[in-house]
Amino acid sequence: MFFRKTKIKPRHREIAGYIKTRWTHLAFAIVCMLVVSASTAASAYIIKPVLDDVFINKKEDMLKLLPFAVLIIYFLRGLGLYGQEYFLNYLGQVIIRKIRDNLYSKIQDLPLSFFEGEKTGELMSRLSNDVNIIKNMVSTTITSTLRDFFTICFLIGVIFYQIWSLALFAVLVLPLAFYPIVFFGRKVRKVSTGCQEAMAEMNSFAHETLVGAKIIKAFSMENYEKKRFYEKTAFIFKMEIKNAIVKALSSPVMEVLAGAGVAFIIWYGGSRVISGVYTTGTFISFLASVIMLYDPVKKISKLNNAVQQGLSAVDRVYDIIERKSDLEEKKDAVLIEKQSHFVTFEDVWFRYNGCDEYILKKINLSVKKGEVIALVGMSGGGKTSLVNLIPRFFDVSKGRVLIDHIDVRNLKLSNLRDQVAFVTQEPILFNDTIYSNIAYGKRDASYEDVVLAAKSAFAYDFIMDFPDGFDTVIGEFGNRLSGGQKQRLCIARALIKDAPILVLDEATSALDTSAEKIVQKALENLMQGRTTFMIAHRLSTISNADRIVVIENGEIAETGTHLELLEKNGSYKSLYELQYLESAT
Ligand SMILES: Nc1ncnc2c1ncn2[C@@H]1O[C@H](COP(=O)(O)OP(=O)(O)OP(=O)(O)O)[C@@H](O)[C@H]1O
Ligand SMILES: [Mg+2]
Repeated sequence: MFFRKTKIKPRHREIAGYIKTRWTHLAFAIVCMLVVSASTAASAYIIKPVLDDVFINKKEDMLKLLPFAVLIIYFLRGLGLYGQEYFLNYLGQVIIRKIRDNLYSKIQDLPLSFFEGEKTGELMSRLSNDVNIIKNMVSTTITSTLRDFFTICFLIGVIFYQIWSLALFAVLVLPLAFYPIVFFGRKVRKVSTGCQEAMAEMNSFAHETLVGAKIIKAFSMENYEKKRFYEKTAFIFKMEIKNAIVKALSSPVMEVLAGAGVAFIIWYGGSRVISGVYTTGTFISFLASVIMLYDPVKKISKLNNAVQQGLSAVDRVYDIIERKSDLEEKKDAVLIEKQSHFVTFEDVWFRYNGCDEYILKKINLSVKKGEVIALVGMSGGGKTSLVNLIPRFFDVSKGRVLIDHIDVRNLKLSNLRDQVAFVTQEPILFNDTIYSNIAYGKRDASYEDVVLAAKSAFAYDFIMDFPDGFDTVIGEFGNRLSGGQKQRLCIARALIKDAPILVLDEATSALDTSAEKIVQKALENLMQGRTTFMIAHRLSTISNADRIVVIENGEIAETGTHLELLEKNGSYKSLYELQYLESAT
């Protein structure tokens, strides 16, 4: 009756599978719960001999025996409660860990296009908040369906044993108590999903504005952002209160029902005690059992709420875990050697997911082994988009990108990415030591390799100026470094990878002219024998390129050497003249 609307899906089976792998823990938890339930029932039962034998019949031997029995009952109950908590929490944490690991590993494996559609803070919310809700669902479900169910069974046993006719009445009335639960439970799932979404939204907002703290301060937008944050928390507040109300609505109905039941039993049973049909002990033990029944019944009634809330969290988490990647690796993917390569763009058209317009149109470009190609053109022309296709950060919409005549989509992804070293337009570093950042793509690099890469990227001197040298921790995103220093570390990181294809997207744009000249020299040495794509706005930095490709509005406008292009009197010449004039004035 509770799960009428819930279809069991593979995702639910998977979670059940995690529990099954720890069946011994589950079994111990069940034993402990049985002990707790039995001791609850025993403590209700023992009221009868206490009242009848000690207080009414005044038997002295019972006075010695019964306190001892009570002690044992409560001792066992304590042990059972401890074991149940321990084993259930253990199971819960196993589930949390598995789901979290799965989710994180899936997120890591999803292509870049996924990250553009998702907010970082929201993903973090799923990793922390939603996974916890799933754990709560599992532990509440297990405790309720097992411990509370056992307790109900044992207590029903006690009441039948004491006064079966009244027990029959209590048992017939009991199902009534579940009606409000089913009625209100349906609303809970809807409201919970809303709460979880609101929470994710707040996380995402907090993440973005904390990362962007500098800009917020620069534009004095603190108060504006605070206000926006307050709006989010106000919304969460509203949703959570609604959630609490929906969850609590079943309680008043249940209380009234329970009160009516107990009142009836006192009226009916009391008259029978007065007329001598039952002993006082029997009746009080019966009444105590009925009152004790209330608690587990109430807990089971809340089960539906926890399950509905949990299922909506399961969906939020598994919608990502089961997300299909649009960047599949073929089963018969091939491997290529790490050596000099041709790279060919064959009638390549490309647009980003969800965009109508093609960003790259009809690109035909063959790059020879070891050739240095410079890509120039106006901002937004499509240069970065073009080089992103080589390591399959994105897939072409039409046409093919080939490495040594093999379509990149036929290559094993890790093998393909081993072929390409990237210096991206934004220098992205991790909050780790300089050493680890440089050795990032080559964890087995020797100390000498790292020093050599740092020297070649003209980074060694500034690294040694730090008191901790290579062990300096550079802050989140490398925040403790200057723009130029970050760029040089990124170059060192690319150099150490020693890949046959090199992509330098504005790699030296943050350096001053003299530093740029030196790094440029280092890069020139490095480009020997490597197929290189060099994107630059400053045309002075591409003088050593074998060929220059001018990209305009996603199309190749011109190709040729510096001199050839100047002669053509086209886009390149205007770009050149613009910069020449700028530097001359
Ligand atoms: N992830 C994305 N989703 C949708 N559109 C994008 C995305 N990245 C870039 N674009 C669009 O693609 C076009 C080309 O961008 P691209 O970054 O390739 O230009 P670019 O030539 O590298 O420019 P710049 O010299 O400024 O770096 C731009 O119009 C941009 O708005
Ligand atoms: Mg770019």
